[in-house]
Amino acid sequence: MRKILVVNSKGGCGKTTVATNLAVALAARGEDVALADADRQKSSLSWVKRRPKSLSRIEALNWSKEDAIGDKDKKLDAIVIDGPGGLRSELAKNLIAEASDIVVPVLASAFDWNATIKFLDGISDIKRVRKGKADIYVVANRINRRSTQVKDLEQTLSDKGYPLLARISDRVLYACHAAAGSGVFDYSDSRSHEIRGQWHPLLQAVDS
Ligand SMILES: Nc1ncnc2c1ncn2[C@@H]1O[C@H](COP(=O)(O)OP(=O)(O)OP(=O)(O)O)[C@@H](O)[C@H]1O
Ligand SMILES: [Mg+2]
Repeated sequence: MRKILVVNSKGGCGKTTVATNLAVALAARGEDVALADADRQKSSLSWVKRRPKSLSRIEALNWSKEDAIGDKDKKLDAIVIDGPGGLRSELAKNLIAEASDIVVPVLASAFDWNATIKFLDGISDIKRVRKGKADIYVVANRINRRSTQVKDLEQTLSDKGYPLLARISDRVLYACHAAAGSGVFDYSDSRSHEIRGQWHPLLQAVDS
């Protein structure tokens, strides 16, 4: 079973958006998926509550308290973990100890880069990650096509040894799905087709 942790010490970079859409992408292809919320704000748990019964089922796990981490994980194909914003080191270690894949969303804003690079350096130094038992994938989020900042972000991250794996556009559709308990893989309309393509590098990486 895969345990995919979505995490960054930086708040508001899209952890919940990435976690919910990743859970939907896996559930849409028939996998048994749980979304574990390790954030005290419990945004992912509220999202699961809003999820229409007609859509593929995603189980909710409350991991907002440290002693709940790791529970009830036997019968599932994957657990996607929505990590907390300000990550205390003990909780980070406990969550990373659970993870097979670590997805780090980052905004294409220079204010976010330094904090994210420090965070990446920190998690890369954890023994389990050093030993290659968990892979790190960096995903640029809220990319604006007309902005040149993604190129700078790409260069900055690759200079530090963290290549960008995927680029997710800034689209109002994500806020609509967040409100409706759904994700871009729930519906196969043509409008979402291009948007879904942006998730493929990440889906391929967590599959490998
Ligand atoms: N690709 C996107 N396009 C448009 N809006 C987005 C996108 N990703 C995230 N958002 C919006 O940005 C805001 C922050 O996203 P989100 O809640 O996923 O971040 P977070 O890292 O989980 O935040 P927190 O640290 O508070 O938990 C939300 O309003 C969300 O709808
Ligand atoms: Mg969140």
